[in-house]
Amino acid sequence: MNVKRYVVCGLSNRGLASFVLPLLEAGGTVAGVVDPDQARVAAFNDTVLPEGHEPLPWYAPEDFDRMADELAPDTVIVASPDHTHADYILAALARDLDVISEKPMVTTAADAKRVLEAERDSKGSVLVTHNMRYIPRHRQVKELILNGKLGRVTHVALDYHVDIRHGGSYFQRWNRLRALSGGLSVHKSCHHLDLVAWWLDAVPQQVFAYGALNYFGPDSPHRPRDASGRPYTGAELRRHDPYYQAQAGSGAFPEPGGGRTGLYGLSYEHQYPAGGDTYIYDDEIDVEDTYSALVRYESGASLAYSLDFSSPWEGYRVVISGTHGQIESRHGRTPDGTPLPGSTTFTYSPLFGEPSVIDVIVQEGGHEGADPVLRNDLFGEPGPDSLRLSLPASATDGALAVATGEAMWRSVVESRPVDIAELL
Ligand SMILES: NC(=O)c1ccc[n+]([C@@H]2O[C@H](COP(=O)([O-])OP(=O)(O)OC[C@H]3O[C@@H](n4cnc5c(N)ncnc54)[C@H](O)[C@@H]3O)[C@@H](O)[C@H]2O)c1
Repeated sequence: MNVKRYVVCGLSNRGLASFVLPLLEAGGTVAGVVDPDQARVAAFNDTVLPEGHEPLPWYAPEDFDRMADELAPDTVIVASPDHTHADYILAALARDLDVISEKPMVTTAADAKRVLEAERDSKGSVLVTHNMRYIPRHRQVKELILNGKLGRVTHVALDYHVDIRHGGSYFQRWNRLRALSGGLSVHKSCHHLDLVAWWLDAVPQQVFAYGALNYFGPDSPHRPRDASGRPYTGAELRRHDPYYQAQAGSGAFPEPGGGRTGLYGLSYEHQYPAGGDTYIYDDEIDVEDTYSALVRYESGASLAYSLDFSSPWEGYRVVISGTHGQIESRHGRTPDGTPLPGSTTFTYSPLFGEPSVIDVIVQEGGHEGADPVLRNDLFGEPGPDSLRLSLPASATDGALAVATGEAMWRSVVESRPVDIAELL
């Protein structure tokens, strides 16, 4: 473990589980936390902080500069809601600090451009935690492509599904507002758009997409109504709601009036105050839950991509076709966590020759073994395999994923193909 001093902006589920606790447990230094929720930070110090560590000092977002003066961090970890990333990244770069930013790096291509410009003028640099790259089976796919097994990749078909429990949870949290998340084509699709661009080592050029809010929001076909057509509310709503019934016991839907509790039993008094109930059929939801998109890359390859947030299973089907071969993979699980058949293998078929079934490598650690390798690249020195596979994602990679996601929703709204060059 290195001796750098880290501060974390956003004591989020993700920030805690992926960065703060692993860093502390490995003997690293987390010098402080920036988060509007002082009570959440205090509860962390009281109930979650591993033994032997000093309580983490708390700073409000407007006190970032004072925090940086007092704590003198080397690296700022940005793990707050997406719309707040840009300000933290820019403030850190202005002080020549390094940044580790959660995905999406920012929520708009305009902010991505500002980050790229600021990084050019700074001694600091930005890494983006595009952790899907690190999943062992995704590294196996990258190896096959790098080894020329597919020839020149011509086309990718990727259908990604989020299941009824997990999907429903997005529509109760901050992610459901475009102003906070960039919409789900940025917040969620940035994972998939980055993965494909990385597999192909290709720069996205143009996007055309259709999309809509089909499952959630006030016009949902599943919204329970009484005999006169009036939507149910409160306990009646939950009793009749198929999403609520399907998630029972999963914790995806908090009980009315209670606020929301995250990992380690920590509540969010600031972000989700008790009594400020949200529900999946609320009027304020302004993002799409379904997309079909075509992306063209500068290499000449194209991607046919779909995403939906209300599926009987979670995972993806992907076919990657090249001039000399093809990879086909289906990976997923049902909402109760049962793996779907075929999830432990994928198929490689040379264009002329016999297909082979390849076992997916299983590694210890979160996200199927992705997280330990990602953390080593972020907090240590990237290993030779990480460098050979170009695993660490740069600010440019983060910016392209955001711009492609923005191009998707802009194409939906404006009914036209959108060039990435228009946005970045
Ligand atoms: N890479 C992944 O697989 C992955 C998975 C989940 C989330 N994420 C990303 O991690 C980040 C956190 O998401 P989450 O769902 O874990 O968050 P969360 O909702 O659990 O927590 C958000 C935290 O940020 C705090 N916050 C709110 N406004 C803030 C501000 N202005 N400054 C600092 N802190 C602020 C809240 O009080 C709360 O503590 C997001 O960028 C999200 O997109 C990435």
